Amino acid sequence: MEFSTKKIDDVELNTHIVGGVRHRRQVTPRKVLQDLQTFEIRTDDVVVITYPKSGTTWMQEIVSVLRHNCDFQKADQDFMRERFMFLDHQIGNEIAPYIKAKTQPSPRLLKTHLQKHQLPPQIFAKKAKVYMYFTCMKRNTSHQTPTSSPPHHFISLHTVYSFFFQVIFVSRNPKDTAVSYFNFHLGVVDLPKYTWQDFLHSFCIGDVVYGSWFEMNAYWWSQRKQKHVLFVKYEEMHQDLSSVILKVSKFLGWPVPDGKLADIVLHCSFDSMKSNRKVNFSEHPLMNIESYPFMRKGIVGDWIHYFTKTQTEKFDELYEHKMQNTGLQFEYISKTIRV
Ligand code: A3P
Repeated sequence: MEFSTKKIDDVELNTHIVGGVRHRRQVTPRKVLQDLQTFEIRTDDVVVITYPKSGTTWMQEIVSVLRHNCDFQKADQDFMRERFMFLDHQIGNEIAPYIKAKTQPSPRLLKTHLQKHQLPPQIFAKKAKVYMYFTCMKRNTSHQTPTSSPPHHFISLHTVYSFFFQVIFVSRNPKDTAVSYFNFHLGVVDLPKYTWQDFLHSFCIGDVVYGSWFEMNAYWWSQRKQKHVLFVKYEEMHQDLSSVILKVSKFLGWPVPDGKLADIVLHCSFDSMKSNRKVNFSEHPLMNIESYPFMRKGIVGDWIHYFTKTQTEKFDELYEHKMQNTGLQFEYISKTIRV
């Protein structure tokens, strides 16, 4: 799939390839990725995993509010980057969030954009706590016929209880994701600057920071029926935020207090989050807010203003080719006005 063949110099300067995936050289150094291979996951961790620009912050705010029993003041007491430990990030000389996480009380809130093979392996180890008990019955030899004869002891095994840490994966249609990611590059100081055409080309071949949208989304979609995984689409959040909040609440076991659902919807609306300095990244050290507001448009279907007719056709072909066996489909045009 060729949209452009232009070589972009600052891509090489500002990023590096580790484990076959492009990363920000300064923000995701090799050491962080290496250390994450031995990062301990706890059974009550909540991990929000996304491809960048898929609605991560939106989901994080919902989780924060539920975590604090709908006390908005408490939920927003800290900046978002202090509430959720961004595992694959390290800014300057700050202590890396994955190191801070080691001494945090449970339940920890974690965030990552890593591809499957770069995640801490314990995420897949499913540290189930399993309690078992046995019932033993001694064989009564005097009344048994040879055919019905049991072994010397009956052993019946019961699994009583098991639980896992929880993963929430947020997925957004790849056209809007690409547009949002392209704009994000313009506003983040260390990210390479592309033309739209060059960016789309790199996105399609998975040669952007965090790698392939297709790979990551196909994997987590395939895991969506696992009990410890909740797969949510950005478009679904747009269409019916109340239902998504209830779904997340049920999944995490953190109830919505009576009569508070509408308040959470309002609190997590685009306009409210855009004007909330604790979540809008306006004070983030790597963000150039003048050229890019993090809360940019927050709509479904902005891709129409970027993709040419030819780019749309090629992209649809590519999607079909890469994702046809997955069954993962998206809404590409908004059915509702924004909440
Ligand atoms: P746009 O750039 O299309 O506006 P992430 O948090 O994964 O980086 O995703 C950022 C994207 O989610 C941005 O998309 C941002 O505007 C959008 N977003 C964040 N909060 C939102 C909300 N409450 N409602 C709708 N979109 C939201």
